[in-house]
Amino acid sequence: MSKTVFLINGPNLNLLGKREPAIYGADTLEDVAHRCEALAKPAKFDLKSMQSNHEGQIIDWIHQARDEAQAIIINPGAFTHTSIAIYDALQAYEGLVFEVHISNVHKREAFRHHSYVSARAEGVIAGFGVEGYELALRRVISLLG
Ligand code: DQA
Repeated sequence: MSKTVFLINGPNLNLLGKREPAIYGADTLEDVAHRCEALAKPAKFDLKSMQSNHEGQIIDWIHQARDEAQAIIINPGAFTHTSIAIYDALQAYEGLVFEVHISNVHKREAFRHHSYVSARAEGVIAGFGVEGYELALRRVISLLG
């Protein structure tokens, strides 16, 4: 049976490639999805890439993952630092969770240093640019493949 991974991106990440390129780089979210797809396919993983600017939509996708996905790779954007509701949804999820940040949040403003999601994640990647998504996916594949 093939395994499913949800790749969930939060607010403002739809602007990847256009938004503050000095911090987030020139690649778009579509580029990220294609590169992750190229890793997932030969490993026989089904990758579902999604992005929303809305907290409730992200929570609904995490609930959906309870029945449909063995792992979640999530970059919650600024909700990382604010959302107890996303943390609660992840607590109610039983699969693997990996948290990704494109930038090194610890090198930035103090308000980015705390993450609600890290207390639930098996692993956290920050500051590896968009390659962080592929690194997280490699880890999922080596744990579940
Ligand atoms: C981010 C870091 C967050 O602090 C910020 O709000 C984002 C992107 C990152 O990928 O580096 O939107 O999660």
